[in-house]
Formats: sequence, structure tokens, C-alpha cells
Amino acid sequence: EFNKLVFSGVQPTGNLHLGNYLGAIRKFVALQEGNDCIYCVVDLHAITAQLVHEDLRGQIRSIAAAFIASGIDPEKHIVFNQSAVPQHAELAWVFNCVARIGWMNRMTQFKDKAGKDRENASLGLLAYPSLMAADILIYRGTHVPVGDDQKQHLELARDIAMKFNLDYQDNIRTSGLGTDIVVGEEPVHAFFPMVEPLIDGPAPRVMSLRDGTKKMSKSDPSDLSRINLMDDEDAISKKIRKAKTDPDGLPSETEGLKGRPEADNLVGIYAALADKSKTEVLAEFGGQQFSVFKPALVDLAVNVLSPITGEMRRLMEDTSHIDAILKKGGERARVRAEKTMNEVRDIIGF
Ligand code: ADP
Ligand code: NA
Repeated sequence: EFNKLVFSGVQPTGNLHLGNYLGAIRKFVALQEGNDCIYCVVDLHAITAQLVHEDLRGQIRSIAAAFIASGIDPEKHIVFNQSAVPQHAELAWVFNCVARIGWMNRMTQFKDKAGKDRENASLGLLAYPSLMAADILIYRGTHVPVGDDQKQHLELARDIAMKFNLDYQDNIRTSGLGTDIVVGEEPVHAFFPMVEPLIDGPAPRVMSLRDGTKKMSKSDPSDLSRINLMDDEDAISKKIRKAKTDPDGLPSETEGLKGRPEADNLVGIYAALADKSKTEVLAEFGGQQFSVFKPALVDLAVNVLSPITGEMRRLMEDTSHIDAILKKGGERARVRAEKTMNEVRDIIGF
């Protein structure tokens, strides 16, 4: 059996929003208790879609600040940025040779981000999931808290791990570095574990406040579509008051949210922020109008987010503290990553 290890990452590309917080960072915080966790600012991923970023270093710091402000303990766990540990890119190269082009071509995120002019997308954008698999597996990570949009990439990480394990089966045995696991029905002598996505919870995919069929995203041109982690109380209040809803009130059971994406989204957001289930939220607000629910949601969102916003601002005033955390985290991560990479070199025969 592999030791349980939690790994996840966030790209330093633009302002963090409520989707990132509820889909990812809030779960990172909750998983700290009783687990070994590694949380990464994935700056190598940031240049796949867009090469030049204004103040990339500042963006990296601000994601790290969001982690710390949300309650991640960088002493007990590891917080660092990806480019500080070159072994991620080294293992990604191996995985580029394990993965098949067809697997990459099927990724919906690649299709979305590449758009119509696919021939002109960067090779890095195509290979993104291979680097993501390396991010996790360089620590032999077993559990990955992410939003629902990352599900397909994690399936690919399992495919890559499985193919590596099978292709190098004999070498893994002779190296003495493997572990017996069962995948499906099949016994495998594995070097890499099969990662498990942690996607559940009431808000696995936070939707745009303007259009319940699109996910809340950094790249949405409408600022009203998302709540940013740095928004003040006025902005949060305005965005929630203006959030699109249908004319009906809240149902008393989750059944009644079917076919009502905007209502479902707001109830999910409330539930995630309150650490409740949607059923519990509806037990409280069922039968009420949105004119009652929305102000309650504003209060809750402000209560949860404003301490984080305040702490992020404080941390960003003097960046030496964040820089020290990233430096130390990078050093700790590098030791662990180099151990795995050494073993991988051994297995391959380099
Ligand atoms: P983005 O998708 O905003 O560009 P990242 O790719 O860095 O940001 O994603 C960081 C984390 O936030 C990932 O775990 C991703 O699944 C999660 N995430 C992003 N958007 C949403 C959303 N709308 N709802 C839930 N989780 C999300
Ligand atoms: Na994403």
C-alpha cells in the first residue's frame, strides 16, 4: 500500500475566485488534519496558454498568500512553487513518452483553450496533463482535491501511472522499488499509485453568477460573473444581488433544484461556505424568496471571505514572509522529488 499523500496545485494566472476557493483551497485547508499535504503554485502551467505574464512573480506570491490566508500551515505541510523543483519537468518528460498523443487530443480543457486554431496552440498546452500527472506522482501523491473541471486530467494521470507501471513491470520488480496493488481486478506491481480525485462536496463546480451553464472562471470577461477572493463587501453584495435567478423561490428539497442551474448554484455556494449539505440549507430556506436568501448569502460570504482577504492584503504588503515560505517549501519539496526521480532513473535504466 502507498502512504496517503495529498497533493494539489493552483495556477498563478489572474485573480482567484470563489470557484477556486470552494472547489480547491477550502478543501486543501480541511485535509490538513491527519494528512501529509503538498500544495503547489503551478507556475510552469501558467505559461502553457500564455507565455508572457505581467508580474508573474507577484501572481505566484498572491496564490501562496491565498493558501496561507485561508489557513494552510506551511510548517506542517509544504507550500512551494513548481518551477523551484525541476524534477516536475523531468518526470513530465518521461510521462510525455509514456502518454499517447491521442490521449492528449481528447482532453476537453485542451480543446477549449486551444480553440479553433489548434495547430497554433503551444505543445505545452497539449502536454499540460502530463506535467500535471508528474506534479502529483513525483511525490507519489494518492489524493488530489480539485474542482470538477479537473476530473478528466486525473483520469489521464491514472492512465499514465498504469502504463508506466505495466511497461516497466520487470524493471520495477528487479529494482525492488514497487508495491503490489490491485487495479480493478488486476494485480499490478506498481511504482506509482492510482491517484484518487477528491471532487465531492456541495460545490464541485461553481458556476458563473450571470449564466448557470458556464463555470465561474478567471477568463470570463464579465466581472459580475465571479466573486474574487480580493473583492470587498460592497462588491460581494452587488454581485450576489445581481446574480441571475429564476422567478420561483427556494424549494424545500434538492429535487426541486433540478433544471434550475442558477438556483442550484447559489444553494451549493451557500452550503459549501457554511460547511453544510444542500439538503440542510433547503431545510432552512425552503419556501423563501431569493430576496431573503441572497442577503443571507451575502452575509455568509462576507463573513467567510473578508478575514481571508484582509490577511492576503497584509501578507502582500511585505512579501519577504511569503518569499521565505516558498523558498523553504521548495527546498523540502526538492528533497522528496529528487528521491522519487532517482528511483525513476533507476527503473528506466538511465
Ligand atoms: P482556473 O480554472 O480558475 O484557471 P486553475 O486551473 O488554477 O484555475 O484551478 C485551480 C483549482 O480551482 C482547480 O482545482 C480547479 O478545479 C478549481 N476550480 C477552478 N474553477 C472552478 C469552479 N468554477 N468551480 C470549482 N472549482 C474550480
Ligand atoms: Na482549471
